[in-house]
Amino acid sequence: MRQIIKIKIVLAALIVLFTYTQCTNPYSAQPSKLKFSSGEDAGALSTSTSVAAFENSVYKVTRSRCIGCHSSQNPVHASDDVQEAHDIVVDQFKVNFSNIPSSRLVAKMRDEAHNCWSDCAENAQEMEEAIEQWAEIVNNIVEEEEEEENTDDGSGDGSTGSDGTDETIISGLSSQEAFEQSVYPITKQRCTTCHITRFPRHANANPVVAHNDIVSAQSVDLDDPMNSRLVQRLGNESHQCWSNCADNANEMKEAIERWKSLMVDRVIANVGENSTALSGTVSTVISTNPVPGNAEAGYMEFELSNVLGVNESVTLRVKISEFDEFSYQVWDPEIISSNYSIRVKNMKTYINGYYNPQHSVYTIVDTTTTPSMRSISSYYLLALKDQGINTDQFSFSFEILSIVEQ
Ligand code: HEC
Ligand code: HEC
Repeated sequence: MRQIIKIKIVLAALIVLFTYTQCTNPYSAQPSKLKFSSGEDAGALSTSTSVAAFENSVYKVTRSRCIGCHSSQNPVHASDDVQEAHDIVVDQFKVNFSNIPSSRLVAKMRDEAHNCWSDCAENAQEMEEAIEQWAEIVNNIVEEEEEEENTDDGSGDGSTGSDGTDETIISGLSSQEAFEQSVYPITKQRCTTCHITRFPRHANANPVVAHNDIVSAQSVDLDDPMNSRLVQRLGNESHQCWSNCADNANEMKEAIERWKSLMVDRVIANVGENSTALSGTVSTVISTNPVPGNAEAGYMEFELSNVLGVNESVTLRVKISEFDEFSYQVWDPEIISSNYSIRVKNMKTYINGYYNPQHSVYTIVDTTTTPSMRSISSYYLLALKDQGINTDQFSFSFEILSIVEQ
């Protein structure tokens, strides 16, 4: 079930300094302390009022019912540290205030019978009510903020329209759905003869059985796919490989990464005319347009003359490399033009047309480049891979991209 919610992004909420040094592996068990949330609640969710409301509602449930595992098992929603528990739930989108029953904390019990303490439907209901209590308090903060905004004198409004951006959030798939689009096609084809009936029944004809067995056997480690039993059995123990064990293990690992990435919420923005086309795939960019002196990096180049309505070439050029198995590093965005000065504001980074609010380093940009001062920003952006280096394509959009008349 894909559920689509239209929301207005409060732009300020997206402004996160996600610099190179602060980045941690987003899938590691150690949650990053950074806030990145989208939607109207984003600001409110980083207040101490939200933490206190969480402590009196959801945290009570997780501390009594989930503590056996989730004080250390990611997501640590039952952590001893209430702030950490709160942040992980927010940052990993485990609650959805716009549609509370679809929250992972609820669905996990209701749809996947995950560690219910009595009747799953009742337990899910109890969690839902706890989330409602929390949401109510957070929504009050949002309303108060909006009232304050409305009583502002409104000066400076009208020119940029920065708060009018409509965006569509597609919630991440459930674990079950994501599994069916990633690991299941492999296990169903390759592990069939035995694991139809033998536990874990990951090749069972019923995908729900296959999924639940894998989860309860802990055969996958979504935080560290390499460490999954499904990978280890192939890579280290040569258990029923179908061709080369290392290749098979790698295929399984990539499928598990895809499982994980399909569960993350994604934002599709209305990319208007102020946007670039998609680049070549990351791997072709690196191989066909390498950065001199750095064999690992390539230039992504985008022609902007159409967007700017000029006849001579103006190019956006950005460096990219593969940072690790989960992410790309993007840096040195610059505009190359022999004659024009160009105002650049709010440059958003898209992968395969999707905007992830985590990738917001350049959304805070507001600068003017000149033929000799080309740089847009000196920050590094770490961007999560989507489909992998052979598929992923970048593009960028701008709130303002215009020629500055001299
Ligand atoms: C016996 C150990 C255990 C207990 C108790 C437990 N969990 Fe989990 N939980 C796990 C493991 C292992 C994972 C990682 C694998 C997975 O996603 O199922 C996990 C993952 C999760 C996830 C993240 C993955 C997703 O599907 O979104 C959520 C949410 C979750 N648990 C909710 C809960 C809730 C709510 C409770 C308490 C009612 C709870 N868990 C109790 C072991 C446990
Ligand atoms: C010819 C039969 C057979 C096939 C095919 C087979 N397995 Fe197994 N598998 C077994 C047996 C028997 C066990 C239990 C004994 C053991 O652990 O080796 C098992 C156990 C497992 C376990 C659970 C124990 C653990 O180490 O975590 C995993 C995971 C597993 N297999 C993965 C796979 C994968 C992945 C495939 C498909 C690529 C596969 N198996 C194909 C026979 C098979």
